[in-house]
Amino acid sequence: MLKARLVTDKDMRKAAVDNRLYSSFIEHLGRAVYSGIYEPGHPEADENGFRRDVIDLIRELKVPVVRYPGGNFVSCYRWEDGVGPRERRPMRLDAAWRTLESNAFGLDEAALWAKTAGTDLMMAVNLGTRGLQDAVNLLEYCNIDAPSKYAAMRKENGHSDPYGIKLWCLGNEMDGTWQTGHKTPQEYARIAAETGRAMKRIDPSIELVACGSSGSSMRTFPEWERIVLTEAYDTVDYISMHQYYDNYDGDTSSFLASNVDLDRFIRSVITAADYAKAVTRSSKTIGISLDEWNVWYHVRREDEKAMEDMPWTEAPPLCEEIYNTEDALVVGCMLITMLRHAERVRIACMAQLVNVIAPIMTRRGGGAWRQTIFYPFLHSSLYGRGTVLEEAVSSPLYSCSKYGDVPYLESVAILSEDEEEVTIFAVNRSLDEDMELSVDLRGFGDCSLIEHIELRNDDLKAINTEEKENVRPIVRTDSSFTGGRGTIVLHPASWNTIRMKAR
Ligand code: AHR
Repeated sequence: MLKARLVTDKDMRKAAVDNRLYSSFIEHLGRAVYSGIYEPGHPEADENGFRRDVIDLIRELKVPVVRYPGGNFVSCYRWEDGVGPRERRPMRLDAAWRTLESNAFGLDEAALWAKTAGTDLMMAVNLGTRGLQDAVNLLEYCNIDAPSKYAAMRKENGHSDPYGIKLWCLGNEMDGTWQTGHKTPQEYARIAAETGRAMKRIDPSIELVACGSSGSSMRTFPEWERIVLTEAYDTVDYISMHQYYDNYDGDTSSFLASNVDLDRFIRSVITAADYAKAVTRSSKTIGISLDEWNVWYHVRREDEKAMEDMPWTEAPPLCEEIYNTEDALVVGCMLITMLRHAERVRIACMAQLVNVIAPIMTRRGGGAWRQTIFYPFLHSSLYGRGTVLEEAVSSPLYSCSKYGDVPYLESVAILSEDEEEVTIFAVNRSLDEDMELSVDLRGFGDCSLIEHIELRNDDLKAINTEEKENVRPIVRTDSSFTGGRGTIVLHPASWNTIRMKAR
């Protein structure tokens, strides 16, 4: 039996959690929109064609913000194609995903869908094939109430009230050579600074996210951040990070420690952002928007190959990752890392939300179901709001080929918003040993266990399907904890949500 220890205290408050950490992403990619969130004629579709079964699952996840409409898609998107009468909307070639885009679902539908799903949109502007003027026009259409061309266009399209979209991404992954209209850091820095400045002149209430690096292995990282932020520091509020992990080589011990890399990546972005702060003599601190993150590899190479000579099709099944048990553990560990950096990571979007590298899957004309990764996201979103507590942790280590010595235990402790509960999220990374976790909740007094929720499966490759949920949480009946101190046993390769009554 492995033995680990976690001590935390009421007065050891680290950072408030920004609830936008539990955001997600819908791109015009594959079946995310068409037959994902939007499927007119489906038995579950409402009068607008929005799938109610999918909305119910999204509501269950309590997703505060959804990034839209891309992704790579946005870098060659003309937003005007997707507004106004449907019969006049053009069919377009989407160069990013080599797909036909009917524009049947566009900006106004996205705004209405977001309202129906109880979430807010985070809008990305096209800085690939378009630029400043177009970004300002789009902002005017969305947020302005004036007798001006684009605000009037929105009203003519039947939407008298502005949408009041608060968060705006200045392009997408502009550091990536795969991006339509890819830019050097200097080119991007200029266009981001100028576009952002003009947008804030139109609507000073918005918050802007500049593109950071598309992954920790990008050749231009972290010079990209330094150059972009030094130029655009006054204008932007957040720098983005994107990060996906894989287990291509089947090295599960390393795969489970992927968040070690995420932790280093976040620390380096903070360093680059704070360097720019010093250079620009600014008093403002730039936040991080980790606006794409997940596990992504099961179908990635096949998709890339298939796309090479795919006939032009509407909404083909692309990036439909079927997630297994170990993927859920990696997602849980990534969430723990984000929470530990809650002071700087203010926004995070699980990429994506439905069908495309997603926690929710649908069948065209059929059901909607929860993938394995749904659960760590659900538990974090439900019980990971409030204040992150400092913790003193000791855990035995194991050695893995990618990251060296790594603790078996990954954990974070959260005090709920109403200060009535302390929740510990914990992963036991051991593949074969139980872990006895000794917990000491010092100043919390007579704490007792509310519930210990566990997600695991003996088979690390087990998946969920429309018919059967093989990987689902259970409430452990053998765990007990009273008096603020005690031990909890964590099973091998498990994601645990341990909820305690604080008073
Ligand atoms: O989320 C899928 C894709 O991954 C996005 O379109 C792009 O931004 C990233 O490379």
